[in-house]
Amino acid sequence: MKVTVVGAGAVGASCAEYIAIKDFASEVVLLDIKEGYAEGKAMDLMQTASLNGFDTKITGVTNDYTKTADSDICVITSGIPRKPGMTREELIGINAGIVKSVSSSLIEHSPNTIIIVVSNPMDTMTYLVHKTTDIAKHRIIGMGGALDSARFKYRLAEALAAPISDVDGMVIGGHSDKGMVPLTAHATRNSIKVSEFLSDDRLNQVKEDTKVGGATLTKLLGTSAWYAPGAAVSGLVQAIACDQKKMFPCSTLLEGEYGLNDLCIGVPVVLGRKGIEKVVEIELSDAEKNHLHESAEGVKKTNGLLEL
Ligand code: LAC
Repeated sequence: MKVTVVGAGAVGASCAEYIAIKDFASEVVLLDIKEGYAEGKAMDLMQTASLNGFDTKITGVTNDYTKTADSDICVITSGIPRKPGMTREELIGINAGIVKSVSSSLIEHSPNTIIIVVSNPMDTMTYLVHKTTDIAKHRIIGMGGALDSARFKYRLAEALAAPISDVDGMVIGGHSDKGMVPLTAHATRNSIKVSEFLSDDRLNQVKEDTKVGGATLTKLLGTSAWYAPGAAVSGLVQAIACDQKKMFPCSTLLEGEYGLNDLCIGVPVVLGRKGIEKVVEIELSDAEKNHLHESAEGVKKTNGLLEL
């Protein structure tokens, strides 16, 4: 199993690290345009191998896509991250050009690859890969919901004063401050709905804190977060590599599911060796449905800024 991660910045390096630590891939290629940077990150990570007990071989390359040839999975993290006060949508101009050229170079060398898009605005970048390449829709996956759900679980555990392993919950919709739809009515603590334990006000607070999860960190760090994004990507990569058939919310091209068409947005999907093996349609309340449709309008508006 060969995995390429494009972009050796904080998110890309963190992806490579978590993939290696989980020790399921034979090889991870880290590629960056900055001379020597990916090589340095790869060497530093390889020097953790004996300490962290993994055998995954991590190689760094400067913009040499021949080294990514025959990757089973490629992760695109390249582009500029958010600065404090910026929305993910404001990154579109620069990142669209980067994602378009990176995805075409990757596919040229790995025509059968599955692509995971992390670059922001992520739902629109995922849509861009659909529009500008000819690979099948089940092989193009946007990573947002897995991260947003992890942040949701963190906030739920905090509100419940419970360990995170006690809680479960999912965030669907667009990967944006306004677009996220945390499914509070479905969230549970050991199978009991969290609404049994938390007031509507407290649950609303959890929802709002989840939606600005990325922005809160950007403000604290001066740039966007990397540990949870990297860990979330590694979870998707592992589910595909190990054919786990796990369910995550991911951004995928919708063709009628949830009453939505011609956009990529986060909905529950099953991930296995083929990529997105199933889009799972769950029953949503009217409020959740409306929120998802509003979110879709926001994503479509951003998609409208693409020069296709
Ligand atoms: C975040 C970025 C990765 O939410 O979109 O932290």
